[in-house]
Amino acid sequence: MRTIEERIRHLDGLRRAARLGGGEARLKKQHEAGKLSARERVELLGDPGSFEETDPFVVHRCRDFGMDADGNTVPGDGVVAGAVRVEGRPVFVFAQDFTVFGGSLSETNAAKVCKVMDLAMRAGAPVVGLNDSGGARIQEGVASLAGYADIFLRNTLASGVVPQLSAIMGPCAGGAVYSPAITDFVLMVRGTASMFVTGPDVIKSVTHEEVTKEALGGAETHASVSGVAHVVADSDADCILKIRTLLGFLPSNNRQDPPRRECADPLDREDAELDTLVPASPNQPYDIKDVIRRVVDDGELFEIHADFARNLVVGFARLGGRPVGIVANQPDFLAGVLDIDSSTKGARFVRFCDAFNVPLVTFEDVPGFLPGTQQEFGGIIRHGAKLLYAFAEATVPKVTVITRKAYGGAYCVMSSKHIRTDFNYAWPTAEIAVMGPEGAVNVLYGRELARSADPATDRRAKVEEYQDLFANPYVAAQKGYVDDVIFPRTTRRRLIRALDLIENKRDVLPPKKHGNMPL
Ligand code: HXC
Repeated sequence: MRTIEERIRHLDGLRRAARLGGGEARLKKQHEAGKLSARERVELLGDPGSFEETDPFVVHRCRDFGMDADGNTVPGDGVVAGAVRVEGRPVFVFAQDFTVFGGSLSETNAAKVCKVMDLAMRAGAPVVGLNDSGGARIQEGVASLAGYADIFLRNTLASGVVPQLSAIMGPCAGGAVYSPAITDFVLMVRGTASMFVTGPDVIKSVTHEEVTKEALGGAETHASVSGVAHVVADSDADCILKIRTLLGFLPSNNRQDPPRRECADPLDREDAELDTLVPASPNQPYDIKDVIRRVVDDGELFEIHADFARNLVVGFARLGGRPVGIVANQPDFLAGVLDIDSSTKGARFVRFCDAFNVPLVTFEDVPGFLPGTQQEFGGIIRHGAKLLYAFAEATVPKVTVITRKAYGGAYCVMSSKHIRTDFNYAWPTAEIAVMGPEGAVNVLYGRELARSADPATDRRAKVEEYQDLFANPYVAAQKGYVDDVIFPRTTRRRLIRALDLIENKRDVLPPKKHGNMPL
């Protein structure tokens, strides 16, 4: 029988072993690779001293394939789990420890992850997963696969109930990628993170393609080409900081409103530059982020998918201290046209905001959907429908500002009055019509102009006539499709007032199991 002192010393030893993970040498290797340890990551994520650990003594139960030798168990079994506070609010967290069996997922390690996910659901608090793992624990076979499936199920059930964030801070391969993929936001660390279903070697043997790990599944690739990553970070510390910033915009769960902050930026601040920001020529680009930054609190926009489908800008900002989701066409890239990638990007963001009570503010300057066989063959019809569906389905407060073009189907899609948007404003520079003047004149007067003695003059006259009739906000305003034509300089004040008026909005959908969103 041990004395009390011996018991305390024993506990101290076990705790130290758990803190050390896979040992000094592997920890050193982790640091040399430019990565923090799992525990360092968790401690950095939480407010100082707030980490409450769960299951530090859990060990694997595997006795197969060389796992029964001494020294083959490490307290905690390769994942650090528990809860921290972020700006005072509880956040549940798990961090895979690469120094223990390469952070691979065992039966017991998965059970630890599931436990914090279940706790998070009961507590109504976000889950943050810090991924750095060689995948399924090879020695455990199907028990490890079962562990993954248990996590996937919880990711799915938690979707829309508590925010789920995944940071990829090392390898994440095979079926393991599907847990982050189900979560709301994926952040990747440049240079150390990689994600792929099958790696370069398998690809080479199957398709004979040669590709590096970084080009296949590095942060840049997923942030700009595949759209799998929502945010890229320069280092582990930068990634953790970005997670904390992102959490600051989100409610803890779907029954809460997002957290409001004190706002030092005057609510009625006007910006005269906005009056002249839209160029006189309809084909001249401008940066919609300039508009957004001049309107929102302190010019701060936290962009999501900043490098993917840049023709649409989405992200979080605050107006009068209240978090909002911004969706904006970007005239500076592909003229702000809607295509497959921007539609899926926008739809996913709108649905997140709607699920978590984040009001939507839309800035619209869109010439329509992108024409071409590539887009049609790629399914622009079903992908474009996602954005329309998402805006139409959303019951959160919705406010739209048309800064310039609102043409064709894209007019309907971009949170128009007709799909339950609460306040629709237009700037005097708005052009709201079925199509642009040149296209319309071609369709209506093409044959007539071909016969004309002076086609250039006649075309100009017809274009001007069309512009006078349609390329303005007043036809829509006369019909009540826009609620007001506003001075651009007053946009901030008008948006804040509108959001105040509808802050208690309660809109509902007809009873159903779930809609059948086009996928
Ligand atoms: C058990 C593993 C492991 C795994 C790595 N290790 N992956 N142990 N199961 N899956 C161990 C190594 O044996 C080594 O142990 C330590 O972790 C570090 O690995 P290294 O190879 O030395 O590190 P590095 O050179 O940085 O390479 C990292 C790696 C590589 C790229 C992740 O280890 C690797 O390719 N691992 C296998 C990846 C894989 O194929 N996993 C299965 C994917 S399929 P020691 O004792 O030497 O420190 C999958 C299915 C999921 O995951 C299905 C879900 C539905």
